[in-house]
Amino acid sequence: MRCGEAVFGGVSALLLLLLVGAPLSLAHIPPHNETARVARYVAHHCDWGALATLSSHEPVRGQPFANVFSVSDGPRGQSSGVIYFYLTAIEISVQDLQVNANCSLTMSLAQTPYCREKRYDPQSPLCAHIILSGGIQKVEDKETDTAKKALFSRHPEMATWPPDHNWFFAKLNITNIWVLDYFGGIKTVTPDEYYKAKPYVAV
Ligand SMILES: *[C@@H]1O[C@H](CO)[C@@H](O)[C@H](O)[C@H]1NC(C)=O
Ligand SMILES: *[C@@H]1O[C@H](CO)[C@@H](O)[C@H](O)[C@H]1NC(C)=O
Ligand SMILES: *[C@@H]1O[C@H](CO)[C@@H](O)[C@H](O)[C@H]1NC(C)=O
Repeated sequence: MRCGEAVFGGVSALLLLLLVGAPLSLAHIPPHNETARVARYVAHHCDWGALATLSSHEPVRGQPFANVFSVSDGPRGQSSGVIYFYLTAIEISVQDLQVNANCSLTMSLAQTPYCREKRYDPQSPLCAHIILSGGIQKVEDKETDTAKKALFSRHPEMATWPPDHNWFFAKLNITNIWVLDYFGGIKTVTPDEYYKAKPYVAV
C-alpha cells in the first residue's frame, strides 16, 4: 500500500511539475529562418544580459563598458519583447546612461541549458544570441505595474533590494536588432518584426 502511495505521489508530483513548467517545456526554439521569432525566443529565455554603455568614468571615459543586468520581457510564458530593467542612479553603468542613454544589450542561449544540452560553444552561431541596441528610458507611470510584474516574477530578490537606493523601472527603446543563430553571417530584424513575432513553438 505504502509503496503504491509513494509511486502515486511521485506520479502526481511529476504531473504537477509538467503542468507548472508547461509554458517553457512546450517551448522550442523557432526555426532559424524565422529570425524575428528566434530573437524573441532568446530575449524571453534569458534572465539577464550584458549591457554595454559608453563610460562616463575615468580612466575609460568615452570607451565601451559592459556590465551585467537582470532583465525580463515578461513573466515566464508571457513574452512581450519589451526588455525591462530595475535600476538605481548609484549604479556605475546607470550613471553612464544618464550622460548618454545609448547602449547595447547582448543575450545568449549560452545563459540557458539549451547550448550545454546541444553541446554548442557560446561563440558558435548555433548557440543563438542577440544584440539589441537603443536607448534606456524610464518607464512611465502607467507601465510601472507591467514592468514590476515582468521583473519581480523572474527576479523575486528585487523586492528586497534596499529602498534607499531609489530603484526605478526602465526599458530598452530598441532601435536595431542583430541575430546570430546559424551559419552565413549575422542577420538583422526590425523592431517592428521583433514585436510582432511569436516566440513560442508548441510541440
Ligand atoms: C522556414 O522553413 C520551413 C521549412 O524548413 C518552412 O516551412 C517555413 O515556411 C519557413 N519560414 C519562413 C518564414 O520562411
Ligand atoms: C543615440 O543614438 C541615436 C540613434 O542612433 C542617435 O541619433 C543619437 O545621436 C545618439 N545619442 C547620443 C547622445 O550619442
Ligand atoms: C526611441 O529611439 C528612437 C531612435 O533614437 C527615437 O527616435 C525615439 O524617439 C525613441 N522613443 C522614445 C519613446 O524615446
